[in-house]
Parts: sequence; C-alpha cells; structure tokens
Amino acid sequence: MKDLALHILDLAQNSLRAGARLIEIHLVEEAEKDLFRVTIADDGKGIPAGNLERVLDPFYTTRTTRRVGLGLPLFEAAARRSGGGLTVTSTPGRGTRLEATFQLRNWDRPPLGDMAETILTLIAANPDVDFLYRQKRNGKEFTFDTRQIKAVLEEVPINHPEVIGYLRRELRDNLNEG
Ligand SMILES: Nc1ncnc2c1ncn2[C@@H]1O[C@H](COP(=O)(O)OP(=O)(O)O)[C@@H](O)[C@H]1O
Ligand SMILES: [Mg+2]
Repeated sequence: MKDLALHILDLAQNSLRAGARLIEIHLVEEAEKDLFRVTIADDGKGIPAGNLERVLDPFYTTRTTRRVGLGLPLFEAAARRSGGGLTVTSTPGRGTRLEATFQLRNWDRPPLGDMAETILTLIAANPDVDFLYRQKRNGKEFTFDTRQIKAVLEEVPINHPEVIGYLRRELRDNLNEG
C-alpha cells in the first residue's frame, strides 16, 4: 500500500508538468472530527472544464508516454476506502486544487509516510519552483515556505547539498508521524 507521502510526491508531478511555479501542500489532522485532510493546490495551467470529470478516469491521461493515468484515480480510491473522498477543482490558466479527506482512525487510511523526504525530493529536483507546506495536527501548526528560505539563502541555491542536509534535519524534527 502506498503511503500518503508517496501519493503527494506523485500528484505534485502533475502540478510540475502543468508548469506550476508555486505548489501548496496542506495537511490537517483533527482527532475530534476523525478527519485527515490533504490539499494540494498549484498555479499551473489548469484542466479544461470539459476534461475535469475525466481526470478521475484511469484511462484518461494527457501524457504521451503511456496510456493510463492512475495518479488521481488511485488517490481517490484510497480516500474512498478510508471513508472520505476526493474533489478536484481547476480554473484554466489559474491552477488546480485537490482536496482529499480521510477518516483519521479508519483502518484503511494509508499512513502518512515520510513527508519530509517527499518535500526534499521536490525541492532538490525543482529548485526554481516554490513549495508551501503547512501541517496542522490537533492545534499544532508547522509551516515551511521555500520563498522564505530562499530569501535567507540569497545567492546560495536551495538544492545545495549542505542546505538540503540542513532542511532534512529541520523537516524530520517537525513533520513525520511519530
Ligand atoms: N495539477 C494538475 N494540473 C493540470 N492538469 C492535471 C493536474 N493533475 C492532473 N492533471 C491532468 O489529469 C491527467 C491525469 O492525471 P493522473 O491521474 O495523475 O495521471 P497521469 O499523470 O499519469 O496522466 C493528467 O494527464 C493531466 O492532464
Ligand atoms: Mg500523475
């Protein structure tokens, strides 16, 4: 079973392929509502209105390298199995937003997995794209914004190995389900 961090890594590739400059990933855990929510929002080229209902169809893809597109259908299936669901909204030219809900304590909810590594992989491979990660768990909030980090780094690239090493420690201390 794929964990949520791997789903998020895969879905962010859709945003990158759509030319996104900013990708926002937002996780909310609310124990008293038995709710876990994952939001991925980008400012990419969006999905034409006529295609929006088809993106959850496993045989729909605009890729030319293979004929099935399973990222969204598998994510939706995971959410549905966990008593939740997925909504996709998109405005052509503005961006796309995915919102998936899961029952927090549902046995079928995939574990969060290594969210720190998902974020680092995205940053290391896409230093010119910005990522805003927000996590709210039972009132405790953590925010990570590459725009702020880049402002501090000035001319040092964010994917410099020493910077990545530092960010890995920082993220691991703050993120992973433990
Ligand atoms: N964030 C996004 N921005 C623009 N188009 C998207 C986005 N996410 C998905 N799509 C569209 O939906 C299709 C299906 O996505 P997905 O299920 O991940 O399969 P795949 O990435 O293999 O095509 C993509 O080919 C693309 O056309
Ligand atoms: Mg995909």
